Amino acid sequence: MNEEQNRRLTQVGRGTPMGEVLRRHWMPIAGASELDENPIKPLRLMGEDLVLYRDLSGNHGLVERACAHRRADLSYGFVEADGIRCSYHGWAFNASGKCVSRPYEDTVNPDITKRGRICIQGYPVKEKAGLLWAYLGPAPAPELPDWEPFSFENGFVQIVVSDVPCNWLQCQENSIDPVHFEWMHNNWSTRLSGQTGPYSAEHKEVAFEEFDHGLVYKRIRGEATKADAMWTVGRVCLWPNAFFLGDHFEYRVPIDDENTLSISWIFTRLPQEVESYSQPSVPTWRSPVKDDATGRWVTSHVINQDMVAWVGQGVIADRTKETLGLSDRGIVMLRRRFEQDIAAVERGEDPKGVIRDPAKNVRVQLPIAEREFLLRGLPRQVLLAHPIWRQHYEGFRFAYGAARVGPPGFPGGGRPMNTLSTIQKACVARLRRIDVCALSDALDKLGRAGAVTGIPQRSGQGRIAGVAVTMKVGPGQPPPGEPRHLGCTAIELSGPDQVIVVEQRSGVEAGCWGGLLTLGAKVRGVEGVIADGPLRDVDEAIAYGFPIFSRSLTCLTARSRVVELGTQLPVALGNVSVQPGDYVVADRSGVVVIAAASIEEVLDTAEAIARREGGMAKALQGGTPISQVMNRDYEQMLENKR
Ligand code: FES
Ligand SMILES: [Fe+2]
Repeated sequence: MNEEQNRRLTQVGRGTPMGEVLRRHWMPIAGASELDENPIKPLRLMGEDLVLYRDLSGNHGLVERACAHRRADLSYGFVEADGIRCSYHGWAFNASGKCVSRPYEDTVNPDITKRGRICIQGYPVKEKAGLLWAYLGPAPAPELPDWEPFSFENGFVQIVVSDVPCNWLQCQENSIDPVHFEWMHNNWSTRLSGQTGPYSAEHKEVAFEEFDHGLVYKRIRGEATKADAMWTVGRVCLWPNAFFLGDHFEYRVPIDDENTLSISWIFTRLPQEVESYSQPSVPTWRSPVKDDATGRWVTSHVINQDMVAWVGQGVIADRTKETLGLSDRGIVMLRRRFEQDIAAVERGEDPKGVIRDPAKNVRVQLPIAEREFLLRGLPRQVLLAHPIWRQHYEGFRFAYGAARVGPPGFPGGGRPMNTLSTIQKACVARLRRIDVCALSDALDKLGRAGAVTGIPQRSGQGRIAGVAVTMKVGPGQPPPGEPRHLGCTAIELSGPDQVIVVEQRSGVEAGCWGGLLTLGAKVRGVEGVIADGPLRDVDEAIAYGFPIFSRSLTCLTARSRVVELGTQLPVALGNVSVQPGDYVVADRSGVVVIAAASIEEVLDTAEAIARREGGMAKALQGGTPISQVMNRDYEQMLENKR
């Protein structure tokens, strides 16, 4: 591909070839619930600065962000019964952008004709499936697609949004790229969890086809045959900018040439036992793409892993430098098809995928490999025994930072996964046998950070070790979703072999852990709590014999001082960052944090150190002079560590 072609396919501004193609389609732009707290939201879409609002009559509008009068920012305006009013001099605009009120002019010089001519850009907005959709193209607008899953029943829908700092096309090319699943989601996840294998089933054959609403890819992996649904049905690269996987849509909406709004609509089919379930409202939550503590992209969840690939390709991928292979035939099809779309729009025709006939826009079916299950569901026990559906039932694997939302009887509905693998359990068992000093020596030897001091044991007996479930506490606003008491989510996510790690370093004197939480954690069999912050009700923790390590003690309650800012997000202990899923060990000497990816290496090293120290102790007990043991062996031991 040459530079000119790359520009043509990636530019999204008004008047650019691809920008005009994209403007022929409705785009999801927000979750409707995003306007529940503040009815006005500034948005940038395809290079245009806009304001989305819900007015006092409940109608939505999407208008230019700059006021027609003297260009003040309408996102600081306020909504009226019909439209939005600028907070500078009170001019008001309806959803079509027409100026409907100029207070001073209307009083002293009521020139109705003139007022009628003043307008800003306004675009139609529709609500469907909990999403708000906008159409930025020429009238008449086509049909807003009524995809079949939007009417699925007995499921829980959530909308997840992220800002991704790269061009939309590289995100969309990911929708027609079957092989990356094997590497990016399967094998890389295995490595991220600290395991070196086994790797997942290889792709043996892939195929790509076009249909009315996009492209389809098909795959054969490992021992699967052509009777497998991944071959007979496949997955959908939905035209022009989404990926559809049966139970969820991932839209890649251009913000401008260099930024993309990722909007996922995710349906989780509930067990048959909770039918008929009807969801009161569709939550929307924002998934962070970057870990603030390290400045690195989040890698723990499926969509986040994809984002690592997209942003890694550059702000706008330089396709002149690619080396395409046989696995990229779908990518080539997609680019060629977009070129045809550009030509069609230039001829004044509709591009691919536009639906004009309302009669054809009713529960439009797309290829769905799991249609039977999504429509009819399964009993809870069958679901729990299923290798894939079980994961959905127990946690949220798609995007990092899940909101605290979920339907009744579906504990994992909106929450991250918390099931420990047998390998994690085995690592915890090994960690329990090693003291913190030996682990700290191992980290030193490997040149890794992880030792934390100044967080002494306040209750319980002996060393604790486990996989971290994290929680952050401080002054501010709790995350969106149903309000929950501080700590409850972390406790419900935890169990044996897990340690709750709390950060409360806001400087506000207030407990971040207390007596009832201690009991709640103990009842669930949680290993212990490590808090970089003040612990309350220490006497109760001592009475329960439940291990807690904390930076300080306090009698001050969290109520009206601090809130839970989030669960399962990166937190800090001292100057060490802890990711959910990292390993933590604490004893009276200190605390160590071991990144999940390096657990095997650290364990091997620490066990070698512990063995050597054991040998030295034996020599001392056997009468070898201490100077000899220490001078020779200790130096040698340190030497061996390096
Ligand atoms: S700038 Fe908006 S009313 Fe004056
Ligand atoms: Fe992916």
